[in-house]
Amino acid sequence: MHPHLPAPNPADTAPVVVGITGASGSIIGFRFIKVLLQLGIPVELVMTEKSLQVTHDELGYKVSGANEAAKAASILTEIGLDVDTYSPLFRFYGNHRLDAPPASGTHLTRGMVIIPCSMGTMGRIAAGIGDNLVARSADVTLKENRPLILVPRESPFNQIHLKNMLALSQAGAKLVPPMLTFYLPDFDDMDGQIRYVLGKVLDLLRIPHNLHTRWGQQETPQPQRHALSQPV
Ligand SMILES: Cc1cc2nc3c(=O)[nH]c(=O)nc-3n(C[C@H](O)[C@H](O)[C@H](O)COP(=O)(O)O)c2cc1C
Repeated sequence: MHPHLPAPNPADTAPVVVGITGASGSIIGFRFIKVLLQLGIPVELVMTEKSLQVTHDELGYKVSGANEAAKAASILTEIGLDVDTYSPLFRFYGNHRLDAPPASGTHLTRGMVIIPCSMGTMGRIAAGIGDNLVARSADVTLKENRPLILVPRESPFNQIHLKNMLALSQAGAKLVPPMLTFYLPDFDDMDGQIRYVLGKVLDLLRIPHNLHTRWGQQETPQPQRHALSQPV
């Protein structure tokens, strides 16, 4: 083989770049990382400065350590994965690291997922401002025509949010807001709701999974009688 020819199908071993921002719902992002790693898919995680605070406020997680490897290990511990087993698949980069691999299109990835995505980060990407690693990696993902999936979290959306979403959709991104599902049996608890969102994202990345039931594949749906017994 020519020494400069790539290995066959390098995308199969390429990582998914994951961005976690300061929107509420970082649990969805961490759950996503855990699912990818348990599927054996390498993950490169970038967290914005604000997301570190929101993650601590919402989940009590501390991302600590003297360097990026130590921070990656602290995240694996927080999400309940064995550090020795999963470290080879997991990289953490600081948001200031514009020299990190995901900042360049020459670095092969399966795409990028920003989950949850704040309106601030969405605006930065829509405006083409790559001044931190999350926004720069998203910009690179779009220019390389790889999947860019945003899980925007805000409600209600104002017209600036909506215009940014339209601009990003026109540029090739997919917008997957964490909307409630009412499919059985997933809709009954938070875990089912989160699995449903993650399943949508994995489908867009063409990664096979069993996170939720698919319409038409479930046993005969048995609507449950929700009595709404509490006064509203
Ligand atoms: C507890 C908490 C929850 C927040 N939730 C949201 C949210 O759901 N959506 C959003 O767009 N911003 C939210 N924000 C505001 C963002 O964190 C803020 O706009 C920040 O500058 C976003 O920066 P980043 O995109 O670099 O993470 C929240 C802030 C805090 C402290």
